[in-house]
Amino acid sequence: MKKIIVLGSFMSLTVWILSCNQEPAKEVAAAPVSQDSLIRRGDYLVSTMGCDDCHTPKKMGAAGPEPDMAARFSGHQAGSQLPPRKAGAGLDGWVLFNMSQTATVGPWGVSYSANITSDSTGIGSWTEQQFSNALRKGFWKGLEGTRGLMPPMPWPNYAKLTDDDVKAMYTYLKSTKPVKNVVPAWEPPAGPPPPPPAAAQ
Ligand code: HEC
Repeated sequence: MKKIIVLGSFMSLTVWILSCNQEPAKEVAAAPVSQDSLIRRGDYLVSTMGCDDCHTPKKMGAAGPEPDMAARFSGHQAGSQLPPRKAGAGLDGWVLFNMSQTATVGPWGVSYSANITSDSTGIGSWTEQQFSNALRKGFWKGLEGTRGLMPPMPWPNYAKLTDDDVKAMYTYLKSTKPVKNVVPAWEPPAGPPPPPPAAAQ
């Protein structure tokens, strides 16, 4: 009998201890991220991830071509002439870049770096979802069912970006100076489709 009482009180003590530990965790509301800190984070990401390499036209400086920050992120400039190239260039095993690194000739044809400023000729009217789809899934204009983005846009490198980083980059780019510039459309290669890269060696 004594044993039963001792065991009983031990069990109720255990239940009491356990119930003390099981208080529902208090909801901690995530602190809202300010627009300012999103823009700062986006600026940092876009600058360190090298978007300028291809999306900002270059001007000639003392040490060669340098980003023309007045036209930052406006992509390949409408109306600018590409230097002459041999017939079949890009299908001969070489890839050509223009001096600005905004136009590239390769087996995929000729691709032109997009305007990613906040202008309506850039990503001014894009939703965050479109931006995310372009950056992480490689959809042209970020719209499903359109064509895939051509090289050298390195979107597969960006596929694992977090939602937070994409949001920050989008918010930053939407805050940039709008630059009006309608980039020429991708030119697919003439003739039959080129062999896959592995067989082209
Ligand atoms: C090595 C060159 C290169 C780099 C680096 C690069 N891009 Fe691109 N990007 C391109 C090219 C070229 C296109 C156009 C491809 C096409 O038309 O198919 C493009 C297309 C895009 C598009 C889609 C535009 C549209 O109209 O569909 C977005 C958005 C974009 N880039 C954002 C970025 C961002 C943000 C970065 C940096 C994180 C970046 N790119 C880095 C070359 C580059």
